[in-house]
Amino acid sequence: MITIHDVAKMAGTSTATVSHVINGTRFVSDELQKKVKEAMKELNYKPNMMARGLKGGSMKTIGVIVPDCTNTFFSEISRAIDRCCFAKGYNIILCNTDNDIKQQSSYCDMLISKMVDGVIMISSDNSDDDINKLTEASIPVVIADRTVNHKGVDNIIVNNEKGGYDATKYLISLGYTKIACIGGPTFISSSNQRIEGYRKALKESGIEINEDYISHGDFHFAGGNKSVSDYMNLKDRPEAVFATNDMMALGFIDGLKSLKMEVPKDVSVIGFDDVQLARITTPKLTTIAQPLNELAQKATDLILNKVEKTDLNISQIVLDPILVERDSCRKK
Ligand code: RIB
Repeated sequence: MITIHDVAKMAGTSTATVSHVINGTRFVSDELQKKVKEAMKELNYKPNMMARGLKGGSMKTIGVIVPDCTNTFFSEISRAIDRCCFAKGYNIILCNTDNDIKQQSSYCDMLISKMVDGVIMISSDNSDDDINKLTEASIPVVIADRTVNHKGVDNIIVNNEKGGYDATKYLISLGYTKIACIGGPTFISSSNQRIEGYRKALKESGIEINEDYISHGDFHFAGGNKSVSDYMNLKDRPEAVFATNDMMALGFIDGLKSLKMEVPKDVSVIGFDDVQLARITTPKLTTIAQPLNELAQKATDLILNKVEKTDLNISQIVLDPILVERDSCRKK
């Protein structure tokens, strides 16, 4: 097996210098860097990642924790983060928690044991326990997509309240007043903020809020599907629905089809996320798009600022979502 000693010998330098070139932990002249890299290529040397970590070098690895890869929002943002990290010479370890707090905690232990350089977390938990566990192990953390109370770590989200407000104002502009809202799980900040935006838009427009029109799904297709019976059996059923994520919006539309009801002819439906599915279903989903690639890029920039110690200031970044009109809504 080719070792760092073989590389140092071929490059005519020390193993410490080779290690500094690999880890970027100290200045090495361009000429010597070139010799080391040529020797690594010639010998097809692959640095031992664990050895690098043990010597205080960088593992060049970022942990990415998401709640539910079956929801394409999370698989799409994971891929985007992977591309951003790869472009900077970092790999990711993707951890899917299935919204299970114990699973999330176990993944944090695993990431600590593997000495990852940093963690980008979309948390399934409102508590700080897992964040504290990572920061106490000197692993920087960025909380993406959702807000937690911990003020000692970077946070990047979209303006969920504005997105919920814009979705509802859009339906009002189409002439609707009987507007329902399918929220996500009540412990999830992004859902609660979107519902606040829904309420604000109705109040601002002088439309009385009907609490029967506000339900809580599971952010899954099935949750949206189930909401159909909740709403369509109401004596005064809603004529338009804002679902706080696309998967529930698509589930709701599917449920209406089972009742031989058409979208948007019988009910207008708007979602939130703009996952790829939203662009290929029939009808194509009108939705509030999250700037997913910008979210991923900024989360990567934030975590690498901390890993490479280029900016240790704590940031709270809020990006604006964008209304995307397609075919699932129409004028009343
Ligand atoms: O679709 C899942 C939802 O949970 C997304 O809207 C995302 O913002 C996350 O919070």
